[in-house]
Amino acid sequence: MEVIICDDAGSAGLLAARLVAEVVRDKPGAVLGLATGSTPLGLYQALIEMHRREALDFSRVTTFNLDEYVGLPVEHPASYHSFIRINFLDHVNVPPERIHIPDGLADDIPAACRRYEAEIAAAGGIDVQILGIGADGHIGFNEPSSSLASRTRIKTLTEETRGDNARFFDGAVGVPSHVITIGIGTIMDARMCLLLAFGEGKAEAVVKAMEGPVTSMVPASALQFHPNAKAIVDGAAANRLQLASYYRWTYEHKPSWQRHE
Ligand code: PGA
Repeated sequence: MEVIICDDAGSAGLLAARLVAEVVRDKPGAVLGLATGSTPLGLYQALIEMHRREALDFSRVTTFNLDEYVGLPVEHPASYHSFIRINFLDHVNVPPERIHIPDGLADDIPAACRRYEAEIAAAGGIDVQILGIGADGHIGFNEPSSSLASRTRIKTLTEETRGDNARFFDGAVGVPSHVITIGIGTIMDARMCLLLAFGEGKAEAVVKAMEGPVTSMVPASALQFHPNAKAIVDGAAANRLQLASYYRWTYEHKPSWQRHE
């Protein structure tokens, strides 16, 4: 996995946005895998700016969100339907019929999950999968012990994740226990994975995922098997990495075309 250590979350988000924009410019009908949470906000803001100022065109792009809470109305402010609309999709020109988000209100959840996988396949697979990482090492909502070959399915959140996400919910509606998430196998099928991680709170998950053994106890470690995965992290999230100086040196000595400047 390529590890790129940026000065701060702002420059990391911008670099990730440049990588995504490059994919969209090369392939206007690209399929983007979208993540929610605080981490990708700078990336989405940078893509929105590129859409406004550089006419970055999403009119042929298809999107698939990683996950959604089960049983939460889509209009709830903490639903990932609301989140991705407010923070990204309302500000760019992805056609509504090309936007896909798991249906956490489906009567038949297994059927909805199978349909989601079929829709990803019918779209030609995901070109670039944007990922955050949980403090417990999850990607999507694939919590520790998830099968590394898993596909889209219902999962139960750990107490740690429910606690981490409580900030998005008010007292009246607690964090749901169940979610639909694309699987680790689904993520591994993406042609490129971009994992972002910022802040000291992610440092342990980052070192385990990047430099530890591949294990279902740290779902993000599966990305070590991915042929084109980049982790873009800030200094605080990188501060436990053994090879941090090597990653910095490597990136600084790349030709500019490889640095996506
Ligand atoms: P965060 O969540 O970006 O809000 O920290 C990341 C995740 O849980 O994948």
